[in-house]
Formats: sequence, structure tokens, C-alpha cells
Amino acid sequence: MTTIEPNLSTRLLGKVAIVTGAGGGIGECAAELFAANGAKVIVADIDLDQASRVTQSIQDKGGTAYSVKVDVSDEAQVQEMVDAAVGQYGTLNVIFNNAGIFPADDGGALDTPLETWDRVMQVNLKGVFLGTRCAIPKMLQAGGGSIINVASFVALMGAATAQVAYTASKGGVLAFTREVAVEYARKGIRANSICPGPIETPLLAELLSDPARRERRLVHIPIGRFGTAQEIANGALFLASDESSFMTGSQLVIDGGITGAYVTPQ
Ligand SMILES: NC(=O)c1ccc[n+]([C@@H]2O[C@H](COP(=O)([O-])OP(=O)(O)OC[C@H]3O[C@@H](n4cnc5c(N)ncnc54)[C@H](O)[C@@H]3O)[C@@H](O)[C@H]2O)c1
Repeated sequence: MTTIEPNLSTRLLGKVAIVTGAGGGIGECAAELFAANGAKVIVADIDLDQASRVTQSIQDKGGTAYSVKVDVSDEAQVQEMVDAAVGQYGTLNVIFNNAGIFPADDGGALDTPLETWDRVMQVNLKGVFLGTRCAIPKMLQAGGGSIINVASFVALMGAATAQVAYTASKGGVLAFTREVAVEYARKGIRANSICPGPIETPLLAELLSDPARRERRLVHIPIGRFGTAQEIANGALFLASDESSFMTGSQLVIDGGITGAYVTPQ
């Protein structure tokens, strides 16, 4: 949950924004922050109860939001989500393709089940592709827009503990986003990725609940702690706003210094 109060800022005033995976974690925080900055927000999640909870919370603070149930790996549902944004609010300016999964049985190249590999690719990579593909025609009609895709720091460097499907899917997000950025740069659509470091959200809850596994990861973070959903949402807000108007095809790394470190001081 964000602690941002509504109407503190107008950085997204007049914009319509879709946030996928907005029923919890980073997406929830971003939906709240976008709304608090004046955006009309489509709160999209596979879990409609959670999406509705977030929408209610935004509305209770005076913000504007509408819930949509979506499985981002399903083309028809993603198209419906985008159509709902335009149907509700008349246009589409921003899509934050944030929904992602990190299954416990995603492991090494030899032991990751094929079904796990496929599902991770479906949600983490195809979901980003579909969100982007369905949003582009509406953004062209709007005269431009901002596409923000969530990758991970693991797309930039190898991890000691293998999670091959997740890592490969996030590497795909970076490459895909660059291609889209170049293709649409002169048409007013910007596309950027965010690479979060380890963030304390439900996605990592199980992993971080084990003190030994927690400590093993913490030792690699120069800043000395895990990140918060708010710290990633802040980056998404910048990329969604016109403040980042000369930034496209890029990746915003918000990782507590992990990718900058060779050895972390203790
Ligand atoms: N938490 C981290 O440490 C971390 C680090 C790097 C990248 N990321 C990425 O950030 C994004 C958000 O992660 P989070 O930590 O907030 O996760 P989370 O598990 O806390 O929340 C993810 C949300 O996405 C929804 N979701 C799952 N599958 C979906 C689908 N098929 N369609 C629509 N919604 C779906 C879930 O219901 C949930 O509300 C993910 O792409 C994740 O890979 C997270």
C-alpha cells in the first residue's frame, strides 16, 4: 500500500493509464500513485477481487479508477482490457505492463518443468507483447503514448540461484521493448523497461520468509536492504509522465546498486 495522498501532484493529469497486475505488489502501488497524480486508471488483474479492492481504495481517496479482470496471456482478454480503457475514459495514453509470475519450480536448465517454462513465457513475455500490441493502435489515435514494461535485474546479469524461465522471459522483455521503441519513436510512442532489484512484495514473500535465503540475497545489495513497491512505482510514474519525453528504448534500473557492484562492502 502506498501512503501517497491524492491530488498532491498532477504529473499525469488528463492521462488514461492501464496497470496490469494492479491487484497487489508493485502494480497496486503504481495504480495508486498514477491516480494520485491525476491519471484515470484501469486497474487490471487476473484476480478481480483484488483489483476491485484497489479501485475502491483509489476512489475513496477521490481518484478515478475502473477494475478489469484480465489474464494478460489471453489475447481476447487483453483486447477487452484496452477497449474498456477507451470505452470508460475515451483514450489511452499509458500502459504499465507489470503483471508477472515467478513459480517456485522454475530452476535450472535441466530441472525446470516444460509446463513451467511455457507458463512463465506466456505471462511474463507474451503478456507484455499482447499489452503492447493492443495498446499501440489506441495510442496512435491519441497522438502518442508511453509503454512501460517490467523486466528485472536478472535480465542484466546471471543469478547464483537459477530461475531460467523467469530470467529468459525478462531478457525477452528488454529486447522486445527496444524493438517497439525504435519502430514507434517517430510516431510519438515511447517504450521503456524497468529492471527492479529484489522488492518486498507477495511475489518474493515465500523466498524471503526463509532467513538463510533472505540473507543470501541481501549480501549482494550495496544499499543493504530490499526495495519497496513504492520505489519501483516512482520510476514507473516518471516513465509514464512527460518528464521522460526524451527517453525511449531504455531500461530504468532500480536495484539498490546490485548491477553496479562487483563486490559488495560488508
Ligand atoms: N518483487 C520483486 O522482487 C521483483 C523483482 C523484479 C521484477 N519484478 C517484476 O515486477 C512485476 C510485479 O511483481 P510483484 O512483485 O508486484 O508481484 P506480485 O506477485 O506481488 O503481484 C503480481 C500481480 O499480478 C497478478 N497476475 C499474475 N498473473 C497474472 C496474469 N496472467 N494476468 C493478469 N494479472 C496477473 C497477480 O494476481 C498479482 O496481483 C512482475 O513482472 C515481476 O516479475 C518483481
